[in-house]
Formats: sequence, C-alpha cells, structure tokens
Amino acid sequence: MTLLDLNGRKALVTGAAQGLGEGMARALAGAGAKVVIADLQDELGPKVAESLGQGHGFVRLDVADDANWEAAVGQATDLLGGLDILVNNAGVEITSLLVDLLAPAARKQLEVNVPGTALGIKHGFRTMRPGGAAGNGGAIINVASVAATIAFPGIGIYSATKSGVDRLTRVAAAASGKLGYGVRGNSVYPGLVPTRMGVGLANDCARIGLFGSPEEAVGAVVGLTPSGRLGEVADMAAAVVFLASDAAAFINGGGLPVAGGVGR
Ligand SMILES: NC(=O)c1ccc[n+]([C@@H]2O[C@H](COP(=O)([O-])OP(=O)(O)OC[C@H]3O[C@@H](n4cnc5c(N)ncnc54)[C@H](O)[C@@H]3O)[C@@H](O)[C@H]2O)c1
Repeated sequence: MTLLDLNGRKALVTGAAQGLGEGMARALAGAGAKVVIADLQDELGPKVAESLGQGHGFVRLDVADDANWEAAVGQATDLLGGLDILVNNAGVEITSLLVDLLAPAARKQLEVNVPGTALGIKHGFRTMRPGGAAGNGGAIINVASVAATIAFPGIGIYSATKSGVDRLTRVAAAASGKLGYGVRGNSVYPGLVPTRMGVGLANDCARIGLFGSPEEAVGAVVGLTPSGRLGEVADMAAAVVFLASDAAAFINGGGLPVAGGVGR
C-alpha cells in the first residue's frame, strides 16, 4: 500500500462522461476507488461507468440544480456505501471578446462554473461531515483553470468564474476547518488540454480574430508554456488522484497549477 492508494475510497466526479472528468474518474478507479460518474449526458455517462467495471456507477446530474445535487449525492452514497472524494469538474466555456459579450452566455458560464461548484461543496459537506450519510470527512477537489491565474483575451467571463472557483475553494477549506467537517478542499488549475472544450477554445480564438488559425492559437499557448507542450488528460487526472490521497493529507485550501509552468 502506498500513500496514493485509494482502495476503499468512494468518489463522485462531475462532468465525467468525457474529457478531463472521464480521465479523472478512470485514474481514481485505477488507484482503487469506487467511482460514480455524474453528468448531464445520460448516454455517454453510463457507458463510461460500465467500462470501469463492477461497483462503479452513473447518476444524472445538472450541477447548476440544487435538487439534482441532493438526489445525485444521495444515490451515489447509497450505491457506493459512502462518499470520501468529490471532484467538482463539470464546467462550460463560451469564448467571446468583451466587446461582443452576450449576457445569457455570461450567466450560463457563471451558473455552471460557480453555483455548480458551490452546490457540490454544499452537498459534499452535508454528506461527508460527521453525522452525514457518509460521515467520515474526505477531500473535495474543484477544477478551476490556469485562466484564473493569467489574462488571456477571449475568455474574460470564463476566467472570472474560475477565479471564483479558486476563492470559493479557499473559503470552503476554512469553513470545513472551523466547523469540524474533516473535509480538505483544494483546486487544480489545468492548462490547455485538447478535449472538446480545449479544441473548441482554439477554434473559437481563431473565429473571433485573435489568431490566424486554431493551430496558431495552440502554438501561442505552447510558446507561453515552459514545459513546451499542451496538457494531457493524464496530467490532470494524476494531480486529482494526488490531492484526493493521503499523500496530500496536509494540503488544504490550496490551488495546484497543472499547466507546465504557465501562470502561478
Ligand atoms: N480542456 C481544457 O483545456 C481545460 C483547461 C482548464 C480547465 N478546464 C476545466 O476542466 C473541466 C473539464 O473540462 P473538459 O475540457 O473536460 O470539458 P468537456 O467539454 O470536454 O467536458 C465537460 C463535461 O462536463 C459536462 N457538463 C457540462 N455542463 C454540465 C452540467 N451543468 N452538469 C453536469 N455536467 C455538465 C459535459 O456533459 C461534459 O461531459 C471544466 O471545468 C473546464 O473548465 C479545462
């Protein structure tokens, strides 16, 4: 057994039907945890859960909906027989120059990324704190973004929401400590990864005229990156396993950049 061993732990990962969340769910399962995939996508999500094998599951969840959260965390806790790890990964990004900003797009990003994460913390705390349905404390990992630590045109509102996730995480850790919940809270700041969202962002940066082509946009990001490459799903998944594990037992209220040296 190593400090990174998650055998016996029970985890819920939001937005895990594809992309970074799917990779995080697979890595947590690979480290020994039982995992519930929570996502809006009720065709893809159950397939990912099934591919993880026995003891894992899927729940349908819109992270922006409080009642949805209550039901999903209850189902996941019943299915897994507890809950120790919550990864608030679901998020949306809608690229726009600030001069072209549309209020509904701004509200959509805000609603999913900030209340969507905060509601997860709410129901995670209620379930994991002493006396909750799981009751053993645990770890919450929120997926912010390198966008919370740099200034990149075209992602103003997205960056604002991810800065919100970062601050929310710090307050959550402080609240958990003050109120004796026994739940650590940290965030990760992924750099650009070519998932649906990452590829979409590169395409959109070209579409709105910031770069001559998506390739040029990607080249600019790589050029800013001391490690000289884009991020991979596995890079983000490994950081989440670490923060969920006993290897990170005294890491609390922090933010871990996983961006090859971009940002802080
Ligand atoms: N890909 C990147 O370059 C990158 C970089 C930094 C941060 N991030 C963050 O990582 C997280 C995952 O991004 P990704 O690249 O995998 O995106 P993605 O678009 O590939 O996947 C997002 C997943 O979240 C789900 N989702 C969206 N809205 C939801 C909602 N309201 N309720 C439940 N599920 C919902 C989608 O169905 C999908 O399965 C997001 O929070 C994103 O902001 C991504």
